[in-house]
Amino acid sequence: MAGFVSAEPMQNSRLRGRLIFYVVSGFAVLPLALGGCGQSSVQANRNGGNPDAGVALIQKFGCGTCHTIPGVADADGQVGPPLNAIAKRVYLAGKLRNTPDNMVRWLKDPQAIVPGNAMPNMGISQHQARDIAAYLYTLQ
Ligand code: HEC
Repeated sequence: MAGFVSAEPMQNSRLRGRLIFYVVSGFAVLPLALGGCGQSSVQANRNGGNPDAGVALIQKFGCGTCHTIPGVADADGQVGPPLNAIAKRVYLAGKLRNTPDNMVRWLKDPQAIVPGNAMPNMGISQHQARDIAAYLYTLQ
């Protein structure tokens, strides 16, 4: 017993230190690895925007008179395409790759992208467009 205590404490504590390191780093890395799947892509698509503010802006600008938009009260318009699963759409208005930056471009100035289409320019600011886009990208 004395031998165990005196001869091996160094080794024991190094081993324990290593074990603790593995366990701790395992816990630290696990959520990152798991979060990497869905969470980070949604976060990247937010582009710094705030989805809750986005819903309020969608209501304020009356997007729902033309679009059906899940999660937005009374948004059941039939003029433009429904925006359910817009996050998965490959092109916006059949023209722009669906990226966060292009979504912002589209919202600010749809007439520059598809002249004469039924979606009007509504004077949406960069900041507002980011918030709206952040909400639209929650529609997977
Ligand atoms: C007066 C009707 C009208 C209003 C108001 C309107 N849109 Fe549109 N929107 C359209 C039409 C029509 C299109 C299709 C344009 C095209 O494909 O050329 C469109 C296209 C879009 C697209 C691309 C959809 C796709 O599948 O390609 C998005 C995103 C969008 N609108 C979001 C919005 C948001 C957000 C608002 C409010 C800020 C809004 N729209 C207001 C009529 C409208």
